[in-house]
Amino acid sequence: MDLNELTRLYDFTGRAFVITGGGGVLGGELACALVGCGADVAILDRDPALAEKVTHRIEMMDKAGIGRAAIVYGDVLDREKLEQAAEAVQSEFGGVYGLINAAGGNRPRATTGTDNSLFAMADEDIRAVLELNLLGTILPSQVFGRALARSGEGVILNFSSMSASRALTRVPAYSAAKAGISNFTQWLAVHMAQEYSPRIRVNALAPGFFLTEQNRFLLTDATTGDLTARGRSIIEHTPMARFGVPEDLLGAALWLLSPAAAFVTGIVLPVDGGFSAYSGV
Ligand SMILES: NC(=O)c1ccc[n+]([C@@H]2O[C@H](COP(=O)([O-])OP(=O)(O)OC[C@H]3O[C@@H](n4cnc5c(N)ncnc54)[C@H](OP(=O)(O)O)[C@@H]3O)[C@@H](O)[C@H]2O)c1
Repeated sequence: MDLNELTRLYDFTGRAFVITGGGGVLGGELACALVGCGADVAILDRDPALAEKVTHRIEMMDKAGIGRAAIVYGDVLDREKLEQAAEAVQSEFGGVYGLINAAGGNRPRATTGTDNSLFAMADEDIRAVLELNLLGTILPSQVFGRALARSGEGVILNFSSMSASRALTRVPAYSAAKAGISNFTQWLAVHMAQEYSPRIRVNALAPGFFLTEQNRFLLTDATTGDLTARGRSIIEHTPMARFGVPEDLLGAALWLLSPAAAFVTGIVLPVDGGFSAYSGV
């Protein structure tokens, strides 16, 4: 291996990716990085305005050697819309090599607190969080995974969480759904390799704590912007003593998506500043 060979592993020219929740903070960062490494990227989101912000960032990039981006409307909980999105990606890019399931999140009413006990939590809120995260990963994997099975190669990258492996207080539905995603990642990795092709890999990231729209209400005070007690506790339990920034995910994500990880499938990789390693003592 020399530097040229290493660089070639991260050249995604001619590869098409779909990123669900691609208009979000983490998915959007990954979209920009993949386009920067030559890939064609379909930014699938239910909110075209968010997706446009990402394409605007891409338009500002130095054009030499970069790939293309396209906005594709899609709701990860609506199979029909996903099928339409798959057709749109096929006609735009001629196929799909990779799927990144980045749509996900929590909601305040599915979070325990002084005004919301576990026992009063509404079915609707629990169901919404379970479905967005877990079903919202499984349905796109079915719809876009078919193209990978047909071509006999490709990658899927899911988003799990620190809450999947050890309980985080206050977020019961989110934790259960993310634990489901970690399990589904392993299940799908085995299934794709055995039933379709060992050249189809499925992995997940387990990000630590990144301050984004889905968790801002938990980590910072809405009026002052100061850290909440929970936000402070997270920093105290993160040996690197900070929240992650979206760029922190790129090395791990691009590695898992690239042929540099050709023999890696079924893993859930923490990117957490040491949070999961630390006992708290
Ligand atoms: N931030 C963290 O610390 C952290 C930690 C661990 C794991 N994660 C996971 O990382 C992933 C990305 O999170 P993020 O922090 O980047 O959150 P984000 O900025 O809220 O991005 C999520 C994106 O998904 C979109 N989305 C929501 N429901 C959708 C649906 N039904 N169909 C299509 N798109 C939908 C959202 O659009 P709307 O705005 O319209 O809802 C948003 O653009 C999530 O799975 C999250 O759970 C985040």
